[in-house]
Formats: sequence, structure tokens, C-alpha cells
Amino acid sequence: MNKQKLRKCLSLFATGVTSIVSFKKLTYTGITVNSFSSVSLNPPLVMWCIDKKSSSLKSFLSLKNNYKIIFLANSQKAISNKLAGSDNIFDKVFCDKIVKKSLGYLDCAIFKKYDAGDHYIIVHRVLKFKTFTKKKPLVFFDSKYKN
Ligand SMILES: Cc1cc2nc3c(=O)[nH]c(=O)nc-3n(C[C@H](O)[C@H](O)[C@H](O)COP(=O)(O)O)c2cc1C
Repeated sequence: MNKQKLRKCLSLFATGVTSIVSFKKLTYTGITVNSFSSVSLNPPLVMWCIDKKSSSLKSFLSLKNNYKIIFLANSQKAISNKLAGSDNIFDKVFCDKIVKKSLGYLDCAIFKKYDAGDHYIIVHRVLKFKTFTKKKPLVFFDSKYKN
């Protein structure tokens, strides 16, 4: 199968963009993710996929609790780009800033992890959530942000 053509085909499925953050004591690690999906309401489960080659892999697999999944608003392109790069370690103050401008967030624990090809599927249990209405989502389509 032609991987480039498959990647192009998959990019035609429009998604929102999330910042997934794990934190241990004062250190917050973030990653930009569009593989997020809701899974179950009872119990409340969501999932996303992480590349096995990600330099942040350990931060997202070694903790049981302390995960935040933040739904980015269309004003947060710069945050999405930052957390897709190597400048992805920050503090609580910066995390609170991301949350404040977002559409909402989920506080999560790890539920299960599955091996899936070159990625792991991480399933989280949602412990708490908050929504901020009247904002537009950041949308990713055809490998570009959509205005
Ligand atoms: C819009 C967007 C969506 C992304 N979605 C995912 C994803 O679902 N899973 C993933 O592992 N990486 C995803 N990435 C890539 C990561 O954000 C990040 O760039 C990559 O893990 C960097 O790897 P490194 O830390 O090893 O350099 C996405 C990047 C962008 C810009």
C-alpha cells in the first residue's frame, strides 16, 4: 500500500485539535493530538493514539493519573504548533493559560493501553470536565488548519 497516498486520504477526515497534557509535580508535558475520540459514556472513556517514536512517550505512559485533555479553540493555533514541537515542557501557569482560552477540558486517569502498529492507543477514564461555550473550534483538515 502507498503510505503517502493513505496519509493523504486519512487527512481528508476533518478533526478538532487537542492538547494532551500530563503533569508530575511541577513539570507539565504537552502534545498536540487529533486522534482523540470519545469511546463510552458509562463508564466515561475517551481515547487517543501516540506514536511509539514520540520523544514524550514516557511522560504519557508512566503516570496513572494527572492527565488533562484540552479542546483547542480556533484562536489557539500557536499553542497547537508549540506542543507539536520540542518546546513542549511548561508549568501550571502556562497550562492554566491554555485551558482559559480553550473550549473545555477533561481531567483523566489511564484506563488501558493497547499496542497498535506504530502507535499505542491510550484509553482514559474521565474524572472531571469543564466546558467554556461560545468559542469556535480549531479544525484540522487536509494537513492544514481550517479557518
Ligand atoms: C494537528 C496535529 C495533530 C497531531 N496528532 C497526533 C496524534 O494524534 N498522535 C501523535 O502521536 N502525534 C500527533 N501529532 C504530532 C505531535 O504533536 C508531535 O509533533 C510529535 O509527537 C513530535 O514528536 P517528537 O516529540 O518526537 O519530536 C500531531 C501534530 C499536529 C500538528
